[in-house]
Amino acid sequence: MNSKWLLPFFIFALVLTAASASFGDECIDCHKDPAFKVKHPSLYNYFVDFDNSVHGVEGLSCVDCHGGDPNTKDMEKAHDNVLAPVKFDQIPITCGQCHIDQRDAFVTSNHYKILETDGTAPNCATCHGAMEMDFIFVTRVKSTCLFCHNHDSGILPEIPGKADYVLNKINIIKGYRSFVNTHAKDRELVAKLNVDYENLTAKWHRFDLTDVEIDTKELLGEYRKAKGQALKDRKEK
Ligand code: HEC
Ligand code: HEC
Ligand code: HEC
Ligand code: HEC
Ligand code: HEC
Repeated sequence: MNSKWLLPFFIFALVLTAASASFGDECIDCHKDPAFKVKHPSLYNYFVDFDNSVHGVEGLSCVDCHGGDPNTKDMEKAHDNVLAPVKFDQIPITCGQCHIDQRDAFVTSNHYKILETDGTAPNCATCHGAMEMDFIFVTRVKSTCLFCHNHDSGILPEIPGKADYVLNKINIIKGYRSFVNTHAKDRELVAKLNVDYENLTAKWHRFDLTDVEIDTKELLGEYRKAKGQALKDRKEK
């Protein structure tokens, strides 16, 4: 950008910030208020979950998932239809506004079809939580699958073991990946592997475990090689 444009741009940015600050975000202001905490302790707890989640830290607001009007102190007006976007079968569309690749894979899955017809399949929040959104741990994912896929229900009881097997490999990839991202000299390779990794975790949402298993093993092999090379790169430094 030409430097003579920088100042007006900066002022424009300031005005934008001031405008959003003067409207404030009444959802958050009211839900974090001490009086709210006393009167609605369990809902306040929800707020704390959100505030400490990846989303809270990234600066998302309530309206990003709930809609409603964040510019009014009038609770009734603010709450216009705030539960509709988080109804169980709407959640994939709501989350998918930002997580497009995961959504596009998920809507092709049987899980999604069943969710839309009789609601007995998981949505994004079943596996990732909603307000308390956080990183996913292998142990928790397995118990999430077990909730429906078990011998009592008879719904594909072999799934949790299979998912656990694949996810453990994804977890090893995550370890290698952070090492490779920091130490590998070949930045083109790093960029390529990162794209492959993102495609893999998005594709996971099709819930075709056999397909995902193959891709996971291939990527694990590539990361293992890249890690070996990155170790050498580090020693040479
Ligand atoms: C002036 C205070 C106030 C504002 C502003 C406010 N809320 Fe609330 N909210 C409450 C209270 C109090 C409750 C507890 C439930 C009740 O009494 O209806 C609540 C409950 C909720 C619920 C639970 C479902 C329900 O309807 O009971 C959701 C979801 C929610 N708020 C989201 C929002 C969002 C999103 C915004 C902004 C667009 C917002 N709130 C703005 C005070 C507020
Ligand atoms: C990343 C999306 C997301 C954001 C951001 C978010 N929520 Fe939620 N919220 C959800 C989902 C999804 C549910 C439904 C949970 C479920 O079905 O288990 C929910 C449920 C709730 C509930 C409980 C409603 C009920 O009747 O059980 C309240 C209260 C609430 N949210 C308030 C808020 C407030 C206040 C904010 C901002 C501080 C906020 N949410 C931000 C996704 C979000
Ligand atoms: C307004 C955009 C937006 C919406 C809507 C949204 N997210 Fe996010 N989400 C983000 C951002 C930004 C991050 C942090 C950066 C990243 O990891 O992509 C994030 C992170 C995540 C992560 C963690 C990824 C990690 O690396 O730890 C998960 C899981 C997630 N979101 C799931 C959801 C679910 C489930 C919903 C719906 C209930 C949702 N998101 C709604 C923007 C959004
Ligand atoms: C049945 C469980 C399940 C459902 C349903 C589900 N996910 Fe996931 N999600 C996973 C697993 C397992 C992973 C991959 C493991 C990992 O990344 O640690 C993952 C990974 C992610 C990630 C992080 C990718 C990364 O960079 O590591 C995001 C973001 C995400 N999912 C969003 C969504 C959204 C949005 C939906 C709904 C459209 C959804 N998920 C539905 C289980 C689920
Ligand atoms: C809320 C219940 C529920 C949860 C939780 C759940 N599933 Fe499912 N899943 C189902 C149902 C119902 C089917 C359809 C079974 C059938 O076709 O007979 C299914 C089918 C599948 C299939 C077969 C794919 C296909 O296209 O038919 C796979 C793979 C699968 N689930 C993986 C998982 C994994 C992995 C998890 C945990 C991360 C999980 N599921 C969690 C309900 C669930």
